[in-house]
Amino acid sequence: MQILVTGGAGFIGSHTNVELLEAGHEVIVFDNFSNSERSVLERVEKIAGKAVELVEGDLLNPEDLAAVFRNHSIDGVIHFAALKAVGESVAYPLRYYRNNITGTVNLLDCMVEHQVNTFVFSSSATVYGEPSKVPITEDESIKATNPYGQTKAMMEQILLDLAASRPEMKLGFLRYFNPVGAHPSGLIGEAPTGVPNNLVPFIAQVATGMREQVSVFGNDYPTPDGTGVRDYIHVVDLAKAHLATLNYLTGDKSPDEPLIVNLGTGNGYSVLEVIQAFEKASGKTVPYQITDRRPGDIPTCYAEGTKAKELLGWEAQLDLDAMCQDTWRWMQYSESLSS
Ligand code: UFG
Repeated sequence: MQILVTGGAGFIGSHTNVELLEAGHEVIVFDNFSNSERSVLERVEKIAGKAVELVEGDLLNPEDLAAVFRNHSIDGVIHFAALKAVGESVAYPLRYYRNNITGTVNLLDCMVEHQVNTFVFSSSATVYGEPSKVPITEDESIKATNPYGQTKAMMEQILLDLAASRPEMKLGFLRYFNPVGAHPSGLIGEAPTGVPNNLVPFIAQVATGMREQVSVFGNDYPTPDGTGVRDYIHVVDLAKAHLATLNYLTGDKSPDEPLIVNLGTGNGYSVLEVIQAFEKASGKTVPYQITDRRPGDIPTCYAEGTKAKELLGWEAQLDLDAMCQDTWRWMQYSESLSS
């Protein structure tokens, strides 16, 4: 199939391209490079041994999108392109609503016009806000707590409404837990600009000596060691889940309703456990200090993953050690890129 991958030069998009290419699909990347580098796509091509077609464009420019749909015979869309920093979304909510919501509506308009009916959407466990219980099941209520999370929840609602009006559309909402890791080749991985917001990229930068120490945001949570517990999932496992979703949506057992699944490992690890695992993988000491809680953080979040296993035949394979080892390999390679 010809798959349009929006945000295909980003962290999860780039790894998904590799899986798509290796499975024999053709990939058209649509990206504005607002938070990514062109060279990522060369490295994707190197890993997969196949070419990617790049269309540089912006979801907020309908003409950019119209041209892609006019010039290609697209069979399905995987939609990653979005702004994703929680703190920034609180400071600049309109930027988030405009980019994430308007951008998605523009994309869907083109899909409707060209009768492209298969759509895989990057959602997030953030839509659950503070869950009523863990592990979190897909029927947990939706109550996002910040503008970024609201954009994901609203996009899900927009897609549900669209699906109700167009039963021929096959939609998958993938609610990611905490994506980390890198491709085992070491050639692609997460490349945050500025100070990383997320734990693993921050730890990785401390391990390389770029930063002095990790601030552990609170050790008085009701968790085994008092630090926050999350469900970290290897980005390669996550990428494979996109392929499984595409196969499910286009296969014999394609669902009548939008597919909504959690993508996690089902295991929770504390901040201190992640630091320890990273020290083991890198052979480096990762100094840390306990600081105040970060506003808006919840104590514990991990997935109930049965639904993805049953419907998609997909299950995460890679453990926390692999996530840290692959991140470390990528950090060393990315340092060589910038030097
Ligand atoms: N943490 C620290 N120090 C840091 C960064 C994080 O102690 O420097 C802690 C947090 O308090 C939390 C854990 O590490 O307990 C994970 O924090 P992340 O920022 O890596 O991830 P979050 O769980 O806060 O959020 C992530 C994504 C969101 C997504 C959400 C879904 O950043 O985009 O998972 O659950 F929506």
